[in-house]
Amino acid sequence: ADERHALKARIKQLLKEKQAVLVAHYYVDGDLQDLAEETGGCVSDSLEMARFGRDHAAQTLVVAGVRFMGETAKILSPEKRILMPDLDATCSLDLGCPTDEFSAFCDAHPDRTVVVYANTSAAVKARADWMVTSSIGLDIVKHLHAQGKKILWAPDKHLGGYIQKQTGADMLLWQGSCLVHDEFKGVELELLRKEYPKALILVHPESPEGVVAQADVIGSTSQLIAAVQSSDAKEFIVATDNGILHKMRAAAPGKIFIDAPTAGNAATCKSCAHCPWMAMNGLQNLLHVLETGSNEIHVDPAIGKKAVVCIDRMLDFAA
Ligand code: 13P
Ligand code: SF4
Repeated sequence: ADERHALKARIKQLLKEKQAVLVAHYYVDGDLQDLAEETGGCVSDSLEMARFGRDHAAQTLVVAGVRFMGETAKILSPEKRILMPDLDATCSLDLGCPTDEFSAFCDAHPDRTVVVYANTSAAVKARADWMVTSSIGLDIVKHLHAQGKKILWAPDKHLGGYIQKQTGADMLLWQGSCLVHDEFKGVELELLRKEYPKALILVHPESPEGVVAQADVIGSTSQLIAAVQSSDAKEFIVATDNGILHKMRAAAPGKIFIDAPTAGNAATCKSCAHCPWMAMNGLQNLLHVLETGSNEIHVDPAIGKKAVVCIDRMLDFAA
């Protein structure tokens, strides 16, 4: 505990000295989330991370999350320096949607409006008409559907399927998934709900259909935390990365939070309920990048220029 305290104090001092700001996601280590809040940075969902980074005056952003979050920050602010604790922190959705194959998929369906999830590479975003995050994807597709647009959606099949069902839009889905949320199981959740009949079921829409179908609240990380804050329930079953429990517990002390069930357990399943790439962010490597200025994110400016269009569309829509 003493060592953690010393590391945090040193990081705070360096953020000040380097005039850098820390932007963290709810799935990273709780110490990093606290540091972001205590130092005037932000901890939030993907949409708010993008907006906060773009609007903040600091010329150095340290993004604690996964690669697409750092890339989005860079695309929105090419003049800023974007650092990340570990540049190898990626995402199974991003990995499962390689640029060449995606580009061929788009070429084969030129009549469709291309909507991609934030969890993609800069090059994939450069091919898209719209980028969305989980907090706003439903509203944007509703809007496009009302205009009579047919949609090509990538990469998350569960989020895409959920939005398709809700909106009735014509959506052609790429077949990607998040390796964390994919592990949540509907049948086991039904059994758990019988044990906790009063619990509110909170589900991130990257989860499989049978899990989403049992949800009381479906939403982005920020929306699920807001639901905890506004609910009178005493117990919650949470189907998303358990990094989020840090904030939920702080928001509602004394309440009970239960991980939604997965088929495996920690011994058999490396990614159960916690993202291995989010877990690569720690106090040590955060301190190291602040000391050395290493791990800077670069995006090919030509790709960034194309990719920014679909991100700006979302941010304008959200404004
Ligand atoms: P949100 O925080 O935008 O809900 O995104 C979840 C996610 O996929 C991060 O990995
Ligand atoms: Fe990607 Fe899932 Fe990890 Fe989020 S939790 S970064 S969607 S693999």
